[in-house]
Amino acid sequence: MLTVLQDPASATQWCREQRELNKTIGFVPTMGALHEGHLSLVRCAIDENDVTCASIFVNPLQFNEADDYSNYPRAIDLDYRLLDEIGCDMVFGGTNRDMFPEAESIEEVTLLDPGRFATGLEGEFRPGHLEGVCTVVERLFKFTGDCRAYFGLKDYQQTLVVRDLAKNLGYPEIRTCKTVRDEHGLALSSRNALLSKSELALATNISKALYSAKALWDSGCRECDQLRMAMRDNLPVPLQVDYADVRNPVNWQANSPVGTISHAIALIAARVGEVRLIDNLQLDSRL
Ligand code: PAJ
Repeated sequence: MLTVLQDPASATQWCREQRELNKTIGFVPTMGALHEGHLSLVRCAIDENDVTCASIFVNPLQFNEADDYSNYPRAIDLDYRLLDEIGCDMVFGGTNRDMFPEAESIEEVTLLDPGRFATGLEGEFRPGHLEGVCTVVERLFKFTGDCRAYFGLKDYQQTLVVRDLAKNLGYPEIRTCKTVRDEHGLALSSRNALLSKSELALATNISKALYSAKALWDSGCRECDQLRMAMRDNLPVPLQVDYADVRNPVNWQANSPVGTISHAIALIAARVGEVRLIDNLQLDSRL
């Protein structure tokens, strides 16, 4: 049976009690409007731990556009039902004030420096976003305490920032899980719920573009320009592309690499109408 806690202090208490019982805790932070991508993280946490908890908090600090925050899908009752059905033990949330009690208003929260992985790509196109992610994730980690925390590779740069944060804090152990896609290859995202049927069809070009870069990579191409071009060629005009780029995940650089690349991940951010989507694909299967 799912325990629903409405404030982070109760979550801290719940986690403390679990640790006192010598139980390992899996923790899945989310912003709700849960889909199979989120649920895959929860299932993984359930498999690997004695007890599992999730958080649902639409974090205003990570939205660099006010409309994106107000339009962000919310479906709390369905979320609770889904978590209960798959066997999650506890979910918690809270108000902005519960999360950041030291600040008079959300504008006054001091943002954390998200570190070197936050430069370039999302760091460039969504200024302040990864600062907001880092700030709330640090807070959530402090609420739950030592545990195993689960993040999706769909938000690749986020996983780098969060790993770095956890390394600096000394906890928790970070686990990453592969991207869940629909039958057309589109990466599941809460924001997909905001797309019309025709926009959904357009959005599938994002993963098609990533797979075309992967096909080129598998044929032996290591030229960054050609890999980028293969993606651009598959992104039709109505998509407004922020970036379609490659990075070496072993040696992450903010800037677009030139020449050849030995290990690569391809990453795309594009707007479909008003909705901004991101996706990525590991090109180098040896990693
Ligand atoms: P949210 O977008 O709700 O995602 C919660 C977690 O689910 C993240 O780790 C994300 O990478 C993962 N996820 C989303 N779509 C996925 C998919 N298709 N396959 C696999 N995993 C997927 O990411 C956030 O929330 C926030 O930034 C958060 C970390 C909660 C901080 O506010």
